[in-house]
Amino acid sequence: MQQRSDEHDLKDYYARRAAEYERIYDKAERQADLARLRESLPSILQGRDVLEIACGTGYWTQFVATRAASVLATDVNEEVLELARPKDFPRDNVRFARVDIYSEEQLSRQFDAGLGAFWWSHVPRQGQERFIECFHRRLQPDALVLFLDNRYVQGSSTPLTRTDEHGNTYQTRTLDDGSSYEVLKNMPDESELSAALGDNARALEYVELEYFWYVTYRVARGVQV
Ligand SMILES: C[S@@+](CC[C@H](N)C(=O)[O-])C[C@H]1O[C@@H](n2cnc3c(N)ncnc32)[C@H](O)[C@@H]1O
Repeated sequence: MQQRSDEHDLKDYYARRAAEYERIYDKAERQADLARLRESLPSILQGRDVLEIACGTGYWTQFVATRAASVLATDVNEEVLELARPKDFPRDNVRFARVDIYSEEQLSRQFDAGLGAFWWSHVPRQGQERFIECFHRRLQPDALVLFLDNRYVQGSSTPLTRTDEHGNTYQTRTLDDGSSYEVLKNMPDESELSAALGDNARALEYVELEYFWYVTYRVARGVQV
């Protein structure tokens, strides 16, 4: 049975996918880009106190933690956090917490950087403003933000099956147990990203690789927590 993708279903889909998730990083054609990202992300976030949202199995956490001052890596699903915690964090500078991006929960620390890997693509276009507000609320003014995500590449990406009335695109994904999910997956270009972030971001820099894009910017309007 195919399930539809709203916030709840997205959470459920990633809970069920936890054990299979990191296979996405084995795709042969993406290895050169991934190697470059494993170098770039830690260097961009060097020395920072990072709030990572939707950290999943901690794949990017493990690289970022080699250079960041500290990382609070958060995800809504305990299933993925259980796979993230045992990874190797030799500098003992990583903590994990179960946090919903959209919750009102206050985090006790201050962060001068925010990281979201493969999260932006799952935010509905009509919910981008709400997401940015929820994320920036937890960051210091002028914090550095980094989003990393997929570009659509024919033959490598899962095909997009439909576009809804807001311009969101969707994929059909099947897990090992045969269950099938319709998942919202947007693949914005630089101008869409820049327009979505608007006045909330300054000093935006967009970097395009063959299979991925990433963007860095400074939080223009922060709220002290
Ligand atoms: C595409 S995965 C990205 C995982 C990881 N950042 C990576 O790049 O390997 C998306 C993650 O978002 C998490 N997630 C889904 N809904 C969430 C929510 N409302 N708040 C926090 N995390 C959520 C899922 O559990 C999943 O781990």
